[in-house]
Amino acid sequence: MGIYQEYAAVYDASGQISFSLRMVPYLQQLLERHPVEGKTLLELACGTGTVAIAFADAGWRVYGVDGSAEMLAQARAKVEAMDGPPAGRVPIWSQQDMRRFELPERVHLATCLYDSLNYMLTSDDLLAAFRSVYRALLPGGVFLFDMNTAWALATQWDDETMVIDTQDLTIIFQSTYDATRQRVSLIATIFQRVGELYHKIVEHHVEQAYPEEHIATLLTDAGFRVEASYHCFRTTPPTASTGRIMWVARKP
Ligand SMILES: C[S@@+](CC[C@H](N)C(=O)[O-])C[C@H]1O[C@@H](n2cnc3c(N)ncnc32)[C@H](O)[C@@H]1O
Repeated sequence: MGIYQEYAAVYDASGQISFSLRMVPYLQQLLERHPVEGKTLLELACGTGTVAIAFADAGWRVYGVDGSAEMLAQARAKVEAMDGPPAGRVPIWSQQDMRRFELPERVHLATCLYDSLNYMLTSDDLLAAFRSVYRALLPGGVFLFDMNTAWALATQWDDETMVIDTQDLTIIFQSTYDATRQRVSLIATIFQRVGELYHKIVEHHVEQAYPEEHIATLLTDAGFRVEASYHCFRTTPPTASTGRIMWVARKP
């Protein structure tokens, strides 16, 4: 993919893992409001696997799919570093594109988290991802995903520089927002300490925002029924100044 390669090794250490740790109890809360009938999960764009592993640990059969071999390597290493997880509880990882992936079985729940779907840069790509998830779900299955809004990209990412500086890692995120295309371009420059030296990593990420009505239309086109949308990490509807929306869609 060209991104989430060398960055993968420092993704958790850079603090990104805290999103997943916060997401796990929120997903449990959402499942109480939007129940599913079984415990099989597709964690799409699973990254370094934190959510997938938490669900597997809670007794779910989990498929972790991501486009980055390096992120999946981190996920696998995380399982290996655990204190002997029972074999049946290890997620089944696979490197596939979220627009066209296949699973060995259909699942009760699909998740796609931390604005991974904002990496779909065209409506056709976003629809392809929605259709693939639809195919992967059992009838009655639920799809939970969050996306950054145009409001977030315009107010929090435009002409911004953010620096994370720890003992072994310095990360500079520089982003600009293109209002015409509702798209953010972000350069991540990472200095990773290796002994007395620093290894420099540079990645260019692009995220696309979509109007809420358009996301709802694409979900409907893919066959989903939109059950709810929430201001992420809450159970209240999004407002004009919501930066991240959690969507709940069900396969009829
Ligand atoms: C912001 S990270 C989120 C990772 C994880 N969901 C989390 O919460 O930490 C975005 C993830 O999307 C994955 N990704 C981006 N484009 C993809 C694609 N076309 N197919 C599959 N995965 C993709 C990246 O490899 C990366 O792991």
